[in-house]
Amino acid sequence: MEQESKSEEEVYKPAEDTFLLLKVTLKEAKSCDKAIEIGCGRALISREIADKVKCIIATDINPSALRIAKHYNIPTVMADLLRGFKAKFDLIIFNPPYLPTAPEEKSRKWINQALDGGENGRETIFRFLEQINENLSPKGRSLLLISSLSGMAEVKEKAIVEGLEISEMARARYFFEELYVIKIQIAKQKSNKYNAAKYIF
Ligand SMILES: C[S@@+](CC[C@H](N)C(=O)[O-])C[C@H]1O[C@@H](n2cnc3c(N)ncnc32)[C@H](O)[C@@H]1O
Repeated sequence: MEQESKSEEEVYKPAEDTFLLLKVTLKEAKSCDKAIEIGCGRALISREIADKVKCIIATDINPSALRIAKHYNIPTVMADLLRGFKAKFDLIIFNPPYLPTAPEEKSRKWINQALDGGENGRETIFRFLEQINENLSPKGRSLLLISSLSGMAEVKEKAIVEGLEISEMARARYFFEELYVIKIQIAKQKSNKYNAAKYIF
């Protein structure tokens, strides 16, 4: 791209989490997949899989992220997670904001939206897990980046409560956290919140 504007500088730059999610996505993507990347940032993942899937949409709440994605000819929609989407997708990719962030640590800058996972790091992840059932096709998969900082056990428990199944696809240790990519699918057998605890592994 040409020189970045001030607002584009506030779009998350691809980092270890992006690259781990990209590696798994490249293996998982199929030519028949209708795919969506939530929170595309600089749209690296969308760009890399655009030729490997049937179609891809990139979303973000940050308008500068969408401008970057459009520059690379990726179709974009400004949306809060999956809110407003009626379509079913075969592949939903998300590297969410996951850093535990106290109210006094929040900033009004756009980059805050890329990092701030709420007080426990799980706020956006939990909202995403609550929505995903509506937008996954019957054999659809979602690839979600999780950090040990947001609590893996709690994320697994929430997925089970939401009627989802998860499996670990990749794991990498960085100096202050462990990163995971999990694959999420609609559970064949629905569980409920009262017996979810016994399935946690
Ligand atoms: C950790 S960054 C990841 C960016 C890019 N996907 C990557 O892997 O490099 C998280 C992205 O999600 C976006 N985001 C945060 N909350 C969102 C929401 N509720 N709906 C859509 N996008 C959101 C942020 O603006 C940011 O671009």
